Amino acid sequence: MSRKVTAIIGGYRKGRIIDTAVDEILAAAEECGAETSRIYLRDRHIDFCTNCRVCTQQEGSRRGACPLNDDMATILDKLERSDAIILASPVNFGTVTAVMKKFIERLACYAFWPWGMASPQNRTSLRDKRAVIVLSSAAPALMIRLLTGSSGLLKKTAGLLGARTVGVLAIGLAALQEKQALPDRVRRKARQMGRKLVS
Ligand SMILES: Cc1cc2nc3c(=O)[nH]c(=O)nc-3n(C[C@H](O)[C@H](O)[C@H](O)COP(=O)(O)O)c2cc1C
Repeated sequence: MSRKVTAIIGGYRKGRIIDTAVDEILAAAEECGAETSRIYLRDRHIDFCTNCRVCTQQEGSRRGACPLNDDMATILDKLERSDAIILASPVNFGTVTAVMKKFIERLACYAFWPWGMASPQNRTSLRDKRAVIVLSSAAPALMIRLLTGSSGLLKKTAGLLGARTVGVLAIGLAALQEKQALPDRVRRKARQMGRKLVS
């Protein structure tokens, strides 16, 4: 059976840096026989977590049910059926985009945190999926790694989704032109990561 790869895209512009980097990763995964799909968070109905903590009260290793009626359950069902995931976001004001952050906060359902307990516990420490993280910024790539904490945040997010991060693609100097092409070096690295996700 072919491996399933799902990309979660927190960028706002289709066909630009984040999107084209994801294209390359998915193309390489497809060449290795994977079945791929992408979810643009901006196109989905995702409400803000209201901190009602209903989902965190429920015991067990399965995610808690959220009372909000939007697209999150469908997205999470798809991710749970995937063998590998990509978490991709531009860095805006020093962190992931607002739409990616909204998605991340809704992952509280993967924590057990009943009233009376000081801090949340992950429901499971299982990491049977692989993840690749993609970040882009106006600043040089090294700055994303050293100064923003975005890479750590998305690694933690991958962990909540049951995935072990096997690569981080940090794309710097990504805001020089309105329509910027992916440099060949980055394209090659993206392809390498696509193969790593499914090999
Ligand atoms: C509102 C906003 C805030 C931004 N903040 C930062 C920032 O703090 N640091 C940085 O290096 N780039 C920043 N950028 C540049 C974006 O990271 C860059 O345009 C993006 O990575 C390009 O991705 P895209 O081509 O997929 O849209 C910002 C851009 C916008 C629109």
